[in-house]
Amino acid sequence: MSKLQTMIIGLLCVSITGCPGIVVPPNGSVDSLDTDFSSLPAVAGLTALQKPSTDPAKVALGKSLFFDKLLSGNRNISCSTCHTPTAFTGDGLPLAKGQGGEGLGLSRSALVGDDGSPVLIPRNSPEIFNRGNFTTMFWDARVADNGDGTFTSPAGDRLPEGLDGALAVQAMFPVTSGDEMRGTAGDNELANIAVDDLVSVWAGLMARLLANDEYVSLFAAAYPDVLADDLNFGHAANAIAAFEIEHWTLDDSPFDNYLNGDTSAMSDSAKRGAILFYGSANCSSCHSGSLLTDELFHNRVVPQLGPGKGNDDDGLGDYGRANVTSDDGDRYKFRTPPLRNVAATGPWMHDGAFTTLEAAVRHELDPQTSATNYDASQLPDEFAAVYRGNKTADIIAAADPVDTAAIDLSDSQVADIVSFLQALTSPSIATLSINDIPQSVPSGLPLAD
Ligand code: HEC
Ligand code: HEC
Repeated sequence: MSKLQTMIIGLLCVSITGCPGIVVPPNGSVDSLDTDFSSLPAVAGLTALQKPSTDPAKVALGKSLFFDKLLSGNRNISCSTCHTPTAFTGDGLPLAKGQGGEGLGLSRSALVGDDGSPVLIPRNSPEIFNRGNFTTMFWDARVADNGDGTFTSPAGDRLPEGLDGALAVQAMFPVTSGDEMRGTAGDNELANIAVDDLVSVWAGLMARLLANDEYVSLFAAAYPDVLADDLNFGHAANAIAAFEIEHWTLDDSPFDNYLNGDTSAMSDSAKRGAILFYGSANCSSCHSGSLLTDELFHNRVVPQLGPGKGNDDDGLGDYGRANVTSDDGDRYKFRTPPLRNVAATGPWMHDGAFTTLEAAVRHELDPQTSATNYDASQLPDEFAAVYRGNKTADIIAAADPVDTAAIDLSDSQVADIVSFLQALTSPSIATLSINDIPQSVPSGLPLAD
């Protein structure tokens, strides 16, 4: 029996006189809010987050790789540029800015494209907390662990053997993307490889890494049983995943502590918010389970911004999940995001359309009205300029009216939901940059962007 189940039974028993085997929670006393929460059907079986175990030598290798610009064609961007500890593993931007940009966060410039406009990545850089517990990756889950030892990914059957999970598979891809990390043909030896020849890009990267003595030692320590000639970028990806899991699986939010039996861990407002979230506001129909996501796909009628994914006649649309399944019924569906640390990881939604948590919550409560009345002036100018309001009617028309029906809450109830979402923040995020950013990386390239 999990601690939570024990707690729930304990809480229920407190309210029922004569119930045998009362389990008293370790901290705090049980009040009616706790009883109301624990008796919600959606709460049954809910457990606190569990951290997967990792190998320290792989974590050490992964930490260098994650911060090293050597992984990018032009040696000018690393994973951490878009997933920086200082912005809580995101980048603080509505849409990411890839290779060729300068600076970090809102002050980052973008490469200027052939048409004179800034090159923006089509989607928001998500926070990457707790991803070792996931079976899908990306807003459209184009990477997925099939559960039978195989993975679905844009690389089809070209992935190397032995990848540890969906998170490791994900790490194979940013390095292959021209706009994100590889660069444009003519720029460097990796960008000169044919766009879809991913295997040669991975081999080229390994040649770069193994020309560096410090990486040779780090790989040897992480993979003592693998001959240097047999190392491939999959080994690098497994190490990057181990680093992400070890440093960024944070299981100490007030909500986790509450689920583990500390009834004093959340404020009354957060508890009322939790009761709405798992109860009448029905958020948990999608934001379910210990990750607060069903890892499934829904059209939440989020307004479109940016260059899109080549959809619609103008190429500026983003059909989301439909681009993976080729099923028109999946248009504008995106994977439900997890919500731990969500209060710190704006802007929110797959394209960063909302710049306050309250606005994101109000959108979720009445998606259609919010999309119709969307005000792009909340965005920094360069993103407001790429708001595609002409697409909103199509996005709404494609939505399931039941899924996106308005839920009417008072202002104080909305504030309670926001309090609950704040209770999903791990206190450890305050010290991420101190604990996670290395002093230097093996290539000697600068860490600063
Ligand atoms: C130019 C910015 C940029 C760089 C560089 C970058 N990422 Fe990302 N990352 C993104 C964006 C944007 C997405 C979402 C893309 C999508 O869903 O279509 C993403 C998605 C992810 C995800 C999936 C999270 C989820 O739940 O869907 C992980 C994990 C991740 N990146 C890790 C990495 C790693 C590891 C590297 C380096 C090898 C890296 N990223 C480099 C911008 C970047
Ligand atoms: C039908 C499924 C569904 C329901 C119900 C739902 N959500 Fe969501 N939620 C999603 C999906 C999918 C997204 C991402 C949409 C996108 O970016 O296009 C999302 C995005 C969010 C975000 C932004 C997260 C981020 O990291 O960008 C927040 C916050 C949020 N939801 C909170 C809520 C709350 C609070 C409720 C209840 C009032 C709720 N959601 C109800 C599916 C749902």
